[in-house]
Order: sequence, then C-alpha cells, then structure tokens
Amino acid sequence: MDEEARANVEIWKYALGFAAMGVVKCAIELGLPDAMENHDGPMTLSQLSAAVGCPTGSLHRIMRFLTHNGIFKKELNLSKSQDLESFYYSQTALSRLLTRDKMGPFVLVQAGPPSQSAGLTAKDLKSGKGSGVQNINAPSEDIFWNMFEVDPAFYKLFQQFLASHAKIATTAVINYCPKAFEGIRCLVDVGGHEGIGIGMLVKAFPWIRGINFDLPNVIAGASPIDGVEHVAGNMFESVPKADAVMLMWILHDWSDDLCVDILKKCKEAIPADTGKVIIVDAIIDEEGGDEYTGARLAMDMTIMSATIKGKERTDKEWAQLLNIAGFSRHTIKHMKAIESVLEAYP
Ligand SMILES: C[S@@+](CC[C@H](N)C(=O)[O-])C[C@H]1O[C@@H](n2cnc3c(N)ncnc32)[C@H](O)[C@@H]1O
Repeated sequence: MDEEARANVEIWKYALGFAAMGVVKCAIELGLPDAMENHDGPMTLSQLSAAVGCPTGSLHRIMRFLTHNGIFKKELNLSKSQDLESFYYSQTALSRLLTRDKMGPFVLVQAGPPSQSAGLTAKDLKSGKGSGVQNINAPSEDIFWNMFEVDPAFYKLFQQFLASHAKIATTAVINYCPKAFEGIRCLVDVGGHEGIGIGMLVKAFPWIRGINFDLPNVIAGASPIDGVEHVAGNMFESVPKADAVMLMWILHDWSDDLCVDILKKCKEAIPADTGKVIIVDAIIDEEGGDEYTGARLAMDMTIMSATIKGKERTDKEWAQLLNIAGFSRHTIKHMKAIESVLEAYP
C-alpha cells in the first residue's frame, strides 16, 4: 500500500476512535473480562449474554469488534452447525488485563465519570440498545435527526461532517462505479443533505438531472447547485419520482423494519422495468474482509452508540432486507472505501 492509500485507511482509526474506546469501556462495565475469567473455559454467545445481562444481538456486534481488534478470541466449534452458537469466545493476554482487579478500573477512570462520558454505556446495552429489539428507554427511532434543535453549535459541526463525508464517499463512487450511472436521466438522492453528493454526480455524469431530497429544515439551509433541484419531504411518506434513487449512508441509521419501509417508498418512485436503487453503505465481512474491515466494524460501534436501532449489515443481512422490500435481484461492487455500492432492481 502506498502512503496515501495507507492514510485513507488509518484516518478512520482517529475518526472513529472515541466509539472504539467507548466499546472497550462498555466491555469492562459489563464485566465481560471478569465473566470469562470466572467461567471454566471458553463461552458461547448465549452463556456470555446470560452472565453479563446483555441481549445477544448487541453482544454479538460488540464481540465482533473486540475479537477483530484482538481483545478477545473467537474459535469455531467444528462439531456444531454454522450459527452464532457455534463460536466460543475466550480470553487473550490483553482481555485478562481488563478485569476489575487489574487495569479495568484504570481504563474506566480515563473515560471520566459516567455523567460526563459520551457514547455507549453498559446500561444502554442491557436495556436493548443495538440488539435489534425495542429499546425501552428510546422507543422512537427519529430522536437522532431531531436532537440538533437542542444544540445548534453541534448541529453546525454535524453539517460540516456530513459535507466532508459526502465529498469523500461520492469521489469513491465516481471513481469505482461510473457504470452505475449510465443511462440515468433523473436521479434522486434521498437523504442527500445539502446536495453535495448529487451535485458532484451531476457534474461527473452531465446527462443526469439531479434531485436532492431531505427533511424541510435541511433543505431550507441548502444553497442552489447547478443541475440539482432541492425537494423537501419525508422519505417515510413518499420519494420524488426518478429513473433511479440513491441512498447514501441512510439505511445504516435505521432498524430493519424502517429500512424496509424506506426501500418500499424508493421502489414506488422508480419505473418497475428499468429503475434501480443505488445504495452506498458499508458491508460487514465477518470472515476476514479487506483493509477497511476494522473501520467498518468501528463504524458499526459508532452507529450503535449514535442511533437507536441502526447497524452496519453483512451481505446476508442486505440480501434479506432487499428481498423483504420486494426487490428481485441486486449486485454488489466493493470500493477502496468504507462503503460498497449495492444496485437493487425491482
Ligand atoms: C447520515 S446523513 C447522510 C447524508 C448524505 N447522504 C451523506 O452520505 O453524506 C442522513 C440524512 O438523512 C436525512 N433524513 C433523516 N430522516 C429523513 C427523512 N425522514 N426523510 C428524508 N431525509 C431524512 C438527514 O437529514 C440527513 O441529511
């Protein structure tokens, strides 16, 4: 890898580092290293779940991140079929140092008092956050997108973050997947924020007329962009009609049920015979992956901490979602980026 390619991978460690450290903190708070220390031998997911009182859905995601980073070990029990219970988790020299009688309290103190530390907490996880089940503390999923009314300074920073993300991700899409945009006369970017992504696409592929579709408060702050019409609305109600729909960094914010609702609205917006939905989001590879796998798993932890039921998905989970939403087939193109491109056809 050359220096620039390495930097493109490395930068995610810093960008997502807080969430990553938050997960280590949660692992100690939940008592995962202690539970394993007290157990006689390796533990299955359900044994661990019972020992620390955390639902298996979120525990699986946390353990996927922690084993990828060498904090715990995951071994396959060959005598069992390939499901989540066919794996055993065990300690490493590192996790043994994270028990409450060794360095665990040291790490917790660095995170600060619970009232001041941001990100995931053991309490969140125990109450269902990230587990795919209803979180009793936050039954509604739209909290994230409304919370900025409370903190305008953070909202401004968040807008800058989304603008930089749109530039980075759209550059990858243009470089690695230009064919996806051939023959599209009108493309709607659903949740396109202030239109940076669709603006870049329209410039790179000038035969496209762009629609940037987002919530009314977001569209109200968007500047005019050549070749792009800004349209305000709610993707859970309807999506403007177009030849194709793009969903970039949208579906990972929402539960499976709400993703199916969004995908069905997108399907209604495109022609049944020639239309497609272009999804730009991460695909988690649980069997190894590439140099971006660590960043994708860290992003899953960020999504777990920042949303109510959002998650990064494996290719199987994507296939299931698209199938339930009524798409007949899809293709996947990987890029040298945290995201991949899925093209789904009615
Ligand atoms: C994570 S951002 C992604 C922005 C952009 N696509 C990108 O990749 O940088 C999610 C976007 O979805 C928008 N959004 C949230 N709920 C929405 C809704 N119900 N209808 C339309 N857009 C929505 C948000 O305002 C935000 O701009």
